[in-house]
Amino acid sequence: MKHLLGIKELQTEDIHTIFQTADGFKEVLQRPIKKVPALRDTTIANIFFENSTRTRISFELAQKRLSADVVNFSASGSSVSKGETLIDTVHNILAMKVDMVVMRHSASGAPWFLARHTDAAIINAGDGTNEHPTQALLDAFSMREKLGDLKGRRIAIIGDIMHSRVALSNIYCLQKLGAEVVVSGPPTLIPKNAESLGVRVEYDVRKALQWCEVANVLRIQLERQHKPLFSTLREYAMYYGINKSLLNSLQKEIIIMHPGPINRGVEISSDVADSKASIILNQVENGVAVRMAVVYLLSGATA
Ligand code: CP
Repeated sequence: MKHLLGIKELQTEDIHTIFQTADGFKEVLQRPIKKVPALRDTTIANIFFENSTRTRISFELAQKRLSADVVNFSASGSSVSKGETLIDTVHNILAMKVDMVVMRHSASGAPWFLARHTDAAIINAGDGTNEHPTQALLDAFSMREKLGDLKGRRIAIIGDIMHSRVALSNIYCLQKLGAEVVVSGPPTLIPKNAESLGVRVEYDVRKALQWCEVANVLRIQLERQHKPLFSTLREYAMYYGINKSLLNSLQKEIIIMHPGPINRGVEISSDVADSKASIILNQVENGVAVRMAVVYLLSGATA
């Protein structure tokens, strides 16, 4: 496989290969010298047309831990503001002999477009409301670390499913690994065709939490909501927010995840985000090892 565009295109075996490779890199990251020379001759451009904290830093760290040469590009402050097209921007970067491009873009499908028009390996770091494959891989890797094999495990994805590329990539990834998936949230934030993806829809968040072993709580993506889809953030927090008293009422322990960035007090309360049940920072930590694995495998480097 030359690119990582979406989880939809991956085979289950590919996901296991990425996880096994990430296991090795996680061990490297515990060493005093957290670096291997695998990608000494590889140059990678991280081109971000949308804001990012975790994904961007995580990719850059992953690439540097593999000894790649790294250049970072963000649309703000670039010639994009002068009217340059995506393809011209990328061709100019590639003309400087770049081997691999990690791209985030607000347009769904942008990485596929790029892959058709360039020779470089493309990694999708999030395209619009479509896919965020490395987030899904690090989420599933983090669940696997806690639960072992995910076959038959019960995972709830809660919140703004409609606008979330994390939700779609998680659904594809978890199903390929044999997990059962429920999506939960307000009807206005769950796509009408959700069940056609093979998931169950549960509008009552408490019932979804009662059913699941892991709750992956998603951010309310106000920047993608062009009309009001719920009355107020306060009301959303009251009916769909994950808080300590709701979790206590379940009388069982579940694992809490969130891809970040968190809207504290909206989709998740601070006492849950910072609780022992939360593995949010483990997700961030695992992101580096998983992205090292993806970059390494796509580079074709041999150990
Ligand atoms: N989870 C995630 O994609 O976070 P960033 O937008 O900060 O990269």
